[in-house]
Amino acid sequence: MIVNRWAQLLLPVGVALADPILPRQYGTNDFQSSCASIASKLALENATVYFSQFVAAGQNLSIPDRNATCGAPYQAVSVDLCRIALYVSTSNSSGINMEAWLPSNFSGRFLSTGNGGLAGCIGYPDMAYTTSLGFASVGANNGHNGTSGGAFYNQPEVVADFAYRSIHTNVVVGKEITKQFYGSPHKKSYYLGCSTGGRQGFKSAQDFPEDFDGIVAGAPALAFNNLTSWSGHFYNVTGPPDSATFVPTAMWTVVHEDIMKQCDLLDGYADGILEDASICNYNASSLLCGSNSTNSSSCLTPIQVNTVQKVFSPLTLSDGSLVYPRMQPGSEAVAAFAVYNGQPFIYNVEFFKYAIYNDPAWNPLTINDTDYINAAIKNPSDINTWKGDLSAVQARGAKILHYHGQMDGIITSENSPRYYEHVSSTMGKTPAELDEFYRFFRISGTAHCTGGDGASVIGQQLESYQSLDPSENVLMAVVEWVENGNAPETITGTHWVNGTKSAGVDYKRAHCKYPKRNVYKGVGDPKAVESWECVEE
Ligand SMILES: *[C@@H]1O[C@H](CO)[C@@H](O)[C@H](O)[C@H]1NC(C)=O
Ligand SMILES: *[C@@H]1O[C@H](CO)[C@@H](O)[C@H](O)[C@H]1NC(C)=O
Ligand SMILES: *[C@@H]1O[C@H](CO)[C@@H](O)[C@H](O)[C@H]1NC(C)=O
Ligand SMILES: *[C@@H]1O[C@H](CO)[C@@H](O)[C@H](O)[C@H]1NC(C)=O
Ligand SMILES: *[C@@H]1O[C@H](CO)[C@@H](O)[C@H](O)[C@H]1NC(C)=O
Ligand SMILES: *[C@@H]1O[C@H](CO)[C@@H](O)[C@H](O)[C@H]1NC(C)=O
Ligand SMILES: *[C@@H]1O[C@H](CO)[C@@H](O)[C@H](O)[C@H]1NC(C)=O
Ligand SMILES: *[C@@H]1O[C@H](CO)[C@@H](O)[C@H](O)[C@H]1NC(C)=O
Ligand SMILES: *[C@@H]1O[C@H](CO)[C@@H](O)[C@H](O)[C@H]1NC(C)=O
Ligand SMILES: *[C@@H]1O[C@H](CO)[C@@H](O)[C@H](O)[C@H]1NC(C)=O
Ligand SMILES: *[C@@H]1O[C@H](CO)[C@@H](O)[C@H](O)[C@H]1NC(C)=O
Ligand SMILES: *[C@@H]1O[C@H](CO)[C@@H](O)[C@H](O)[C@H]1NC(C)=O
Repeated sequence: MIVNRWAQLLLPVGVALADPILPRQYGTNDFQSSCASIASKLALENATVYFSQFVAAGQNLSIPDRNATCGAPYQAVSVDLCRIALYVSTSNSSGINMEAWLPSNFSGRFLSTGNGGLAGCIGYPDMAYTTSLGFASVGANNGHNGTSGGAFYNQPEVVADFAYRSIHTNVVVGKEITKQFYGSPHKKSYYLGCSTGGRQGFKSAQDFPEDFDGIVAGAPALAFNNLTSWSGHFYNVTGPPDSATFVPTAMWTVVHEDIMKQCDLLDGYADGILEDASICNYNASSLLCGSNSTNSSSCLTPIQVNTVQKVFSPLTLSDGSLVYPRMQPGSEAVAAFAVYNGQPFIYNVEFFKYAIYNDPAWNPLTINDTDYINAAIKNPSDINTWKGDLSAVQARGAKILHYHGQMDGIITSENSPRYYEHVSSTMGKTPAELDEFYRFFRISGTAHCTGGDGASVIGQQLESYQSLDPSENVLMAVVEWVENGNAPETITGTHWVNGTKSAGVDYKRAHCKYPKRNVYKGVGDPKAVESWECVEE
């Protein structure tokens, strides 16, 4: 007899569902034959089921249909599951491709994965990760295939899928598939996503509050139109690589070291990690070349100093009104290649050409205030995702765990506290009151969603998890909060030796809940969690 052993073996004490669903006592053959026949049995509106396929634990699943821009055509799977692929029509000119991965060791928990960038790529790694934890997981292509936004051109319904409809349809249909396959509905519903996926989590919270009981939203692409303006404005700041304003890529390493000189001790300990980048008011004049200096690889011209000051200043219209907050200092290792490289940023280019203007001839080299204003006004299908009223989510008892890496070089981490404050003022709630259902954590030493110099491993992805203990895993933290009422006060991240899991743990650090920030106590091993504390601003 196969029993549901995930709860006993993998989940820390207290996280197990009190009453796990055991709709069928699957023997291996039963599960395989149920899976084989489900494709023809599913009764779903607006859907065409392509196939259902049993995937055995340990299989390196071949995915020949995967768009090449989305990654390699295979995915390692660690548990027995039933893979169901289907198409769901969402309008008379668009639809989504989606998949449901239903593990034989089902925990009773449903989960939707999200997407990234402008991409239409099913999140196979996230589905492999979450099914390994017993979730029935779904993923969709966000209404188009591949990483490009070219599919938006003159297709407002495809943009609508990308803005909100794919993720919602994926959930509605996915829950129905879960119910029909296991014979009874899921018990709790979760979301895990980052970047565009973080925005999708908040879109659900804002507009489809019934979709999830627990949401993990990382580095969310909120105020999406303005974000793409901000991504595009760096070209205007740096100019092309042959211009006087341009700061060579290698020079950003020098800037990074200088930032550490000025700001690393603001958290009480100089370890190359800014616990709270928002209090670093970096002044690049310190790198100004002396009158005798000819060594441009270690100093900046006055014009380049101005470039550096500008990237660390908010983007405003000429009248001073805010478009998007500044890039936080500390992210240079990523940002130098992503947005300070003297080229227009691809997401800005494609979103403006195909979703804002429907004009492939739009010129990203002359981006200016007019473009920022036009994007904010057009706001196709309310992709902005900036509603500050989350009372519907709160009212039904759902929980939101929001995190943002403090060395994110793609979406500035300073937009996340801005959204948190927007919710706080819109709802008229203090942080102590928001704590009941919405908590935001600033994750130091963490790049865009994953990676980085610090304790960046918080269970946010398959490749970024150390432990299933809720204190160290954002997904299990939200499960523990939803199912047992134990809300996270901190999220402990792990830094692996050399950034490599197999090399072992270098140190751990407990990341603080906003608005608190992390400081070194002044005594004790700085690599010990207890040598740090969360203090009020
Ligand atoms: C099916 O499509 C129709 C027409 O687009 C729509 O009205 C209906 O809500 C859809 N059903 C579901 C379950 O999404
Ligand atoms: C996307 O790819 C799937 C195969 O994975 C295919 O069935 C579907 O037709 C494609 N959709 C579009 C819009 O190209
Ligand atoms: C899966 O198969 C591909 C193609 O043969 C291979 O490159 C990849 O390393 C395999 N992955 C695993 C985890 O075995
Ligand atoms: C269910 O989970 C247990 C514990 O990890 C594992 O030993 C077993 O192989 C799994 N069963 C199936 C059918 O995947
Ligand atoms: C498709 O839907 C749009 C919006 O609902 C409608 O205006 C249009 O007439 C429809 N086109 C067709 C061919 O049904
Ligand atoms: C794959 O993705 C690229 C980039 O988004 C797109 O141009 C292409 O049409 C896609 N191919 C298929 C077969 O869907
Ligand atoms: C940046 O924009 C301003 C105002 O539109 C313009 O004068 C300037 O030439 C632009 N810089 C670059 C490098 O494109
Ligand atoms: C940076 O430092 C220089 C020299 O001390 C000073 O003149 C300048 O005002 C400072 N800039 C900012 C933005 O604080
Ligand atoms: C520049 O070089 C001259 C001659 O070596 C020296 O006298 C002067 O002090 C130097 N100035 C600076 C700012 O280093
Ligand atoms: C500013 O942007 C608008 C809209 O893209 C464009 O038409 C205009 O030429 C740009 N202005 C300059 C000075 O390049
Ligand atoms: C976006 O930018 C526009 C100016 O282009 C501004 O009016 C608006 O407040 C900004 N929205 C957000 C959410 O930042
Ligand atoms: C550290 O990681 C890099 C790849 O990220 C690898 O090339 C190198 O060998 C590793 N060094 C050690 C000492 O493990």
